[in-house]
Amino acid sequence: SANSKPMSPEIGFKPVPASTADTITVPEGYRWKRLISWGDPLFSNANEFIDGGKNNAYDQEHQFGDNNDGMSFFPLSEDRAIMAINNEYTNYEYLFPHQGKRVSRNDVRKAQAAHGVSVFEIHKVNGSWQPVRDSRFNRRIHANTPMTLTGPAAGNPLLATSADPSGTKVLGTFNNCANGQTPWGTYLTCEENFNGYFGSDSAVDLGADAKRYGIGAKDAGYQWYKHDSRFDLSLNPQEPHRHGWIVEIDPKNPDSTPKKRTALGRFKHENAALTISADGYVVVYLGDDQRGEHLYKFVSKNRYNPDNQAANRDLLEEGTLYVAKFEAEPGKVAGKGEWVALTFGQNGLTPENGFADQAEVLIFARRAATQVGATTMDRPEWVAVHPSGQQVFCTLTNNKNRGKEGQPVGGPNPRAKNHYGQIIRWQPDNNDHTAAGFKWDLFVMAGNPEVHGDSAYGGSANINSDNMFNSPDGLGFDAAGRLWIQTDGKYSNSGDFAGMGNNQMLCADPASGEIRRFLTGPVACEITGLAFTPDYCTVFIGVQHPGEDLQPSHFPGGGQSTPRSSVIMIQREDGGIIGT
Ligand code: FEO
Ligand code: CA
Ligand code: CA
Ligand code: CA
Repeated sequence: SANSKPMSPEIGFKPVPASTADTITVPEGYRWKRLISWGDPLFSNANEFIDGGKNNAYDQEHQFGDNNDGMSFFPLSEDRAIMAINNEYTNYEYLFPHQGKRVSRNDVRKAQAAHGVSVFEIHKVNGSWQPVRDSRFNRRIHANTPMTLTGPAAGNPLLATSADPSGTKVLGTFNNCANGQTPWGTYLTCEENFNGYFGSDSAVDLGADAKRYGIGAKDAGYQWYKHDSRFDLSLNPQEPHRHGWIVEIDPKNPDSTPKKRTALGRFKHENAALTISADGYVVVYLGDDQRGEHLYKFVSKNRYNPDNQAANRDLLEEGTLYVAKFEAEPGKVAGKGEWVALTFGQNGLTPENGFADQAEVLIFARRAATQVGATTMDRPEWVAVHPSGQQVFCTLTNNKNRGKEGQPVGGPNPRAKNHYGQIIRWQPDNNDHTAAGFKWDLFVMAGNPEVHGDSAYGGSANINSDNMFNSPDGLGFDAAGRLWIQTDGKYSNSGDFAGMGNNQMLCADPASGEIRRFLTGPVACEITGLAFTPDYCTVFIGVQHPGEDLQPSHFPGGGQSTPRSSVIMIQREDGGIIGT
């Protein structure tokens, strides 16, 4: 068990047991408090949240959005900061009194407002952070907020629609999964399952590219296309090309126009893990979260200048997008890899192979990745870069299709019907994030040793009955190099998942491999999104979709209240650094 192992100097808390309770548990000596929940007003002209889906669209446009996910903390002073927090999607069973059974035009407007990003000021009062209603920084960005398409694909005819023949002006962002933060003070929000908002009442055939991105007549149930023609594929077949990007937002300027950065490619973006290479280039690691999709890296054309932040504002405008190809040493789950450039005219990305120009390579990055022979992965979710070393970690959350056609078992995806997930890590050659080559291995294979013993499905050696989990997803380092792992897995606590309980957050020591459970979440939630204050004495954590699919949660209000996605803050009772 974890307790029989030597205590790592880097991790000082006593692990918490698995839990199926409808609450948060944290280690002894820690406490948690709610910061904000879905529907809390950011402006005093909106009503307070009302249980049962009774707020209207206007309220939602001025309230914290639903299903919070990735988030970043932007300090203004010791006791003031701006939070930028993604609102990935919404649950109609709680958003509307009719639970989605008869969606009206106004309901669509409300749903669109529940998505996007919430930006708001927070203040520290008596040691505890709280939102500032009506701060001049407060802003709701949602599915109808005007944005600009920038970079190599902007203005391409593939991005033009009847409403925007220029292919440069787009409304909104939605399904904003995780995030990134730049050293020049901007927030990156990542458009993931954008496909599910488009549909049509008539049959549409948009070809193989649309199919690969999951775009077709049947939507994911949101019904936006029935009331907003922008989402009707029979009228606007190219609108989906304008989504699936990384969006850059300046949280300190509420009047700024968000920019979709097409140089970083179009796919189902999870997060954007940004680092500066030894010689000053901006490197952004990017996962495409779908079964059998790929892992990407962007390298800027120009260098970061720490002495002139204004000159850094458009570093994500130009650069090279790469995709990863993995190779295993015979008999090992480790080996070498290579980043292959997705540059028009190179590596077979030519007109003969169906690519007209760089814009097409970026808009259909998945097809380009296949063309160059990229490795199909077990759903790349978050990437995190070690703060001092050069190692990079990525969660490969699960993949029930591993072993089927086109997704062979092997390399960093070593288990067929992988329902537990793993975390891969790699070290760039010469410790240079711009290098083409790297070495990789697996940091952990999740599993259930109680059910599967020593087999591959029992997990790697650093998994035991006290720290079992499945489907690692959110990932982040603190300044000391502790790796924080969040899960979005099966919470049945039975069968293959017996003993794992609700979704959770764990803390790992990359050097020793030790993993300890730090937190458990309420019923039917996932834990996703994390942000530390600069002193590392407060961590903000996202609790997403408690009670999804009408599961019995009333978090955080208790009683018979509507369950609400929430951001919580965690501190030590003695005010010390989290995790020590
Ligand atoms: Fe929004 Fe792949 O998680
Ligand atoms: Ca995720
Ligand atoms: Ca997930
Ligand atoms: Ca989620």
